Amino acid sequence: MKSILKYLLFVVFNISPLVAVFPDAIGENGAVTSSSKHASQIGIDVLKNGGNAIDAAIAVGFALSVTFPNAGNLGGGGFMVIRTSSGEVRTIDFREVAPENAFRDMYLDENGDVISGMSLYTAHASGVPGTVAGFEYAHERFGTKSWNYLLRPSIQLATNGFELSFRDAMYLNASRSFFLRDKESAKIFAAQDNYSVGDLFIQKDLAKTLRRISIGGADEFYKGVTSDMIVQCMKRTGGIITKSDLANYRPIERDPITFKYRDYTFYSMPPASSGGICLAEILNQLETISFDSVGFHSTNHIQPFVESERRAYADRAEFLGDTDFTDVPISTLISKSYAEIRFSDYDQYKIIPSSDMGPGEIERYDESDETTHYSVVDKWGNAVSVTITLNGKYGNGIVVDGAGFLLNNEMDDFSIKPGHPNMYGLVGKEANAIAPYKRMLSSMTPTIVDDPEDNLFLVLGSPGGSTIITTVAQIAVNVIDFGMNIQDAVNAPRFHHQWLPDLIFFESDRFSSETLSNLSSKGYELSERKSIGEANCIQIGSSGIKFSAADSRRAACALAY
Ligand code: DON
Repeated sequence: MKSILKYLLFVVFNISPLVAVFPDAIGENGAVTSSSKHASQIGIDVLKNGGNAIDAAIAVGFALSVTFPNAGNLGGGGFMVIRTSSGEVRTIDFREVAPENAFRDMYLDENGDVISGMSLYTAHASGVPGTVAGFEYAHERFGTKSWNYLLRPSIQLATNGFELSFRDAMYLNASRSFFLRDKESAKIFAAQDNYSVGDLFIQKDLAKTLRRISIGGADEFYKGVTSDMIVQCMKRTGGIITKSDLANYRPIERDPITFKYRDYTFYSMPPASSGGICLAEILNQLETISFDSVGFHSTNHIQPFVESERRAYADRAEFLGDTDFTDVPISTLISKSYAEIRFSDYDQYKIIPSSDMGPGEIERYDESDETTHYSVVDKWGNAVSVTITLNGKYGNGIVVDGAGFLLNNEMDDFSIKPGHPNMYGLVGKEANAIAPYKRMLSSMTPTIVDDPEDNLFLVLGSPGGSTIITTVAQIAVNVIDFGMNIQDAVNAPRFHHQWLPDLIFFESDRFSSETLSNLSSKGYELSERKSIGEANCIQIGSSGIKFSAADSRRAACALAY
């Protein structure tokens, strides 16, 4: 209690030069922050009942499949970074994979042109889902509570319903015409002409599916009744996922991408996500300069930041893809020496347009608007950073017949044609071309940071498609270089550059006109966005106190105890 008071005094008489707001929730034991108040509460309950952070993360994940169907899912995939109390860090890749019958040019017509919408809004848009297998893997490897116990609250929420918040109702109403395109989807998500705050949202089919999974585990989903329902849905909608695609799905445990930024150790997601590598590239380049005595969001802060971002994204487009299929020069890309060379052509007075800026030179030797992020920390110091998605909001809009859950449209994250932008404007080449059983490149960046004394310090992540990586980079720099607490760091306005298109995106009305006109007089093209990301993050104070921050941009919920 004393240490909480100490922290509050620190916040009130803020030592940092920037305005501080209290983190949404502060606790000595555990913390959860997610896009849904129901899911966050379920996570905290698991922690209070003696579950560890991994148990809570699994329970939160299943709850999001009920209360946040925009992105929480059984029919999609994601990534998890886990730091155990002993300081060991592992990652679990439960990204969707391309079905066996997928092929390189499957979204092109006979003239080689992209068939509009096919990789996004048809049954062909779905990769083989990974979430249920990923959660089961995490449970078997790190969980302590029974599987059945972790699913129980979600089954109840689906069976008995939950009251729609303003945001839930607004999202459902806004996507009504999208749901009406699929009769199974319409039955569930457009059952009412209009949803209002407080309406009870019951999902009977989803409850049955969750119950089957709670009894039969991932085997049920991938080989049992649910798999039959997915195949039936493929027949109805003309999709290509088969029984054997489902039976063959495997999550993969991988070493994290590990690097240091100003003595802090970062652990982030390796491919199939580009997140960890690009985050390392951005921060390594920034480490070559100092932000001491640089004003927050001044030109001298934003310009080098966007220059490091665009170099990282140019490399992403060229080099990154599923490492089981393509040789990614990871250790070079995340090295300090590469960052120095990569950033050496940065000149604040001479802007190189993206069209003249290719990827970096790599020597290939010695190289062996909808997602959701949540963070969990327990009293033992275990931490979990999870980002999950269907890709687009409500995925491809197709609900599996009788199973009550939506399918993803993650296939669009492949480079469906070299140079053709995906739904986030990202381009790619051969490294991210479609192949059977290959994972499509992601930007999801669940990240855990240790302080210079190797204590757990930050649990970070965000949705936002291509902007995820730059959101995480900015939050880290806001805390480490600009001395903000996690809530300020999360709430601070965001900007973004991804090489192509050659634009600086910035959140509307949140940057000084002086900085914006400086940047544009230097030759940058600027483009406004209403908001970027929803970073639900946790900071651990030196005394072990957890500061849980929900991103104020959406209606997220941070809890702690
Ligand atoms: O894996 C990816 O990078 C994308 N499918 C994530 C999509 C996303 O973040 C949408 N969020 N708002």
